[in-house]
Amino acid sequence: MSMILVTGARGQIGSDLVRTLRERHGAEAVIATDLREPEEQAETSGPYEVVDIRDRTKLDEVAQRYNVDTIYHLASLLSARGEQAPDLAWEVNVGGLRNVLEIARENGLKVFWPSSIAVFGPTTPDNAPQKTPLEPTTMYGVTKVSGELLCRYYHLRYGVDVRSLRYPGLISYGAEPGGGATDYAVEIFHAALEQGEYTCFLAADTRLPMMYMPDAVRATTELMDAPKELLSVRTSYNVTALSFSAEELSASIAKRVEGFVTRYKPDFRQDIAASWPSSVDDSAARADWNWEPAYTLDGMVDDMLVHLREKLNVSASSCPVSRIP
Ligand code: NAD
Ligand code: SER
Repeated sequence: MSMILVTGARGQIGSDLVRTLRERHGAEAVIATDLREPEEQAETSGPYEVVDIRDRTKLDEVAQRYNVDTIYHLASLLSARGEQAPDLAWEVNVGGLRNVLEIARENGLKVFWPSSIAVFGPTTPDNAPQKTPLEPTTMYGVTKVSGELLCRYYHLRYGVDVRSLRYPGLISYGAEPGGGATDYAVEIFHAALEQGEYTCFLAADTRLPMMYMPDAVRATTELMDAPKELLSVRTSYNVTALSFSAEELSASIAKRVEGFVTRYKPDFRQDIAASWPSSVDDSAARADWNWEPAYTLDGMVDDMLVHLREKLNVSASSCPVSRIP
């Protein structure tokens, strides 16, 4: 039986990924770990350990105690938090990955680690190619480029089977997003159902590559299941599903939530988002391991609203009406 350890398990992706992995492999086979104590029952439906990813000794001890053979390493600081705390972002994002890769090298473990569209920068073509100079202008992006090169190095030098995706901005109704420039695309749904209005921290025409969480989780498990001889990219694969601006997302929600209005008040996160491309060329992922997204913008908005109404206990007929004239 495969034994899997997930770091950053309480985060936006970790909480959904742990649920999927436990459904596939059994609850006892998936060890959820995070810096934070567990909160939700879902997190404690199987083993849970508090581990600071910077503590290699503790991570190694937990991995060995559970006979782990695979690590999904998600613990990280995201883009906006990374700009507020660049030293910590380097320590957690690069130091943490190095710890995981060292433990993988010593014990022959398989690793998944996510990179991001944040590896790109203002010099990237607007539809970001798989291979292009990477010149990010955020500390988060710098840690992701460094991480990609570390993954490739550990694969080439030590044969570590480490696989990676450059996730676009992710949208989900589970755990809250953890401090990125794409968090608006989750906040806007909560605001639509709870307040009927939203003040967006990005400009209306800011267009970014995006993906709904079920597609992101499936991309992750499909990459990890792919035969290794099919994989031609050992830095990180571009993957994408959607590309929309803040005002297009707002319009799609407004078609379904009567009276919903969005105002735009860009803050420092606009500069981060403006440095990223608006779409991504994921043809290498499609060719190598048959990547194909399932959700369109309207399909994602429909599904988000169904699940969030259920979670927030808001009926479709009691939609709030905006207070903005
Ligand atoms: P998140 O912020 O929601 O979760 C990160 C988790 O890491 C949190 O639960 C946090 O408690 C934990 N953590 C932070 N510091 C830690 C430490 N020192 N030790 C152990 N745990 C620590 O992030 P997420 O959105 O779930 O992202 C997961 C991964 O995916 C990250 O590598 C992120 O860069 C990447 N990614 C996310 C997105 C997105 O839109 N969510 C997009 C691209 C890439
Ligand atoms: N969604 C992430 C962020 O905004 C991209 O990696 O930080």
